[in-house]
Amino acid sequence: MHADFWLERWAQNQIGFHLGEVNPYLQRHWPKLQLPAGARVLVPLCGKSLDLTWLAAQGHRVLGVELAERAVEDFFAEQGLQAEVREHGAFKIYRAGALELWCGDFFALGAADVADCSALYDRAALIALPPALRERYAAQLTAILPAGCQGLLITLDYQQSQMNGPPFAVSDTEVQERFAEGWQVEQLERLDVLKGNWKFLKQGLQSLDETVYRLRKR
Ligand SMILES: C[S@@+](CC[C@H](N)C(=O)[O-])C[C@H]1O[C@@H](n2cnc3c(N)ncnc32)[C@H](O)[C@@H]1O
Repeated sequence: MHADFWLERWAQNQIGFHLGEVNPYLQRHWPKLQLPAGARVLVPLCGKSLDLTWLAAQGHRVLGVELAERAVEDFFAEQGLQAEVREHGAFKIYRAGALELWCGDFFALGAADVADCSALYDRAALIALPPALRERYAAQLTAILPAGCQGLLITLDYQQSQMNGPPFAVSDTEVQERFAEGWQVEQLERLDVLKGNWKFLKQGLQSLDETVYRLRKR
């Protein structure tokens, strides 16, 4: 997906992926990771998700990465937070307390940037990307995150021929393969979420499964 695609989505406020509440899977499964409060959490492709605030409220330091400056600015404005802004390499870093949002391309992130991250949270990041970029994304996480890092990954799966992404369909097999090298992958929950999901029903989908994984880097 080209950067312009996402910048245009934000400019047009076409952000159907944004949830008006904290993700219930995050609240249900995050405690299982038993992370110390001060742990720093990497949130790739973070948008202006309320999950960022929830993670900070658990005592975590949060490092969100987001391409669209509009999303980053909206996040701090909507949270009523005044952010300090500074440049760091290819990124513009917005910071308020424990919340840091790095505005720039996730693929420009280096190992030194995330050396003290012991956790990862991916909701609608992997599934936002087409296959070739998903491969790069998983390889990038594997390359830059330190051993012992663990987190949650939330995916959607459906018949890709029935709808164009994003969100893209990511099967269980794909997750297992993409993270086979370097990660332990454990499925925590799989739910059929098609019923009542009018947006996807309208597209003619016949199935829609949401899966939550626990990832642990070896
Ligand atoms: C489907 S949205 C999900 C946002 C957020 N995770 C959520 O749950 O609301 C994907 C986001 O990734 C951002 N994005 C796409 N490609 C990116 C990249 N290469 N680097 C950083 N952000 C990117 C988009 O601007 C968009 O806000």
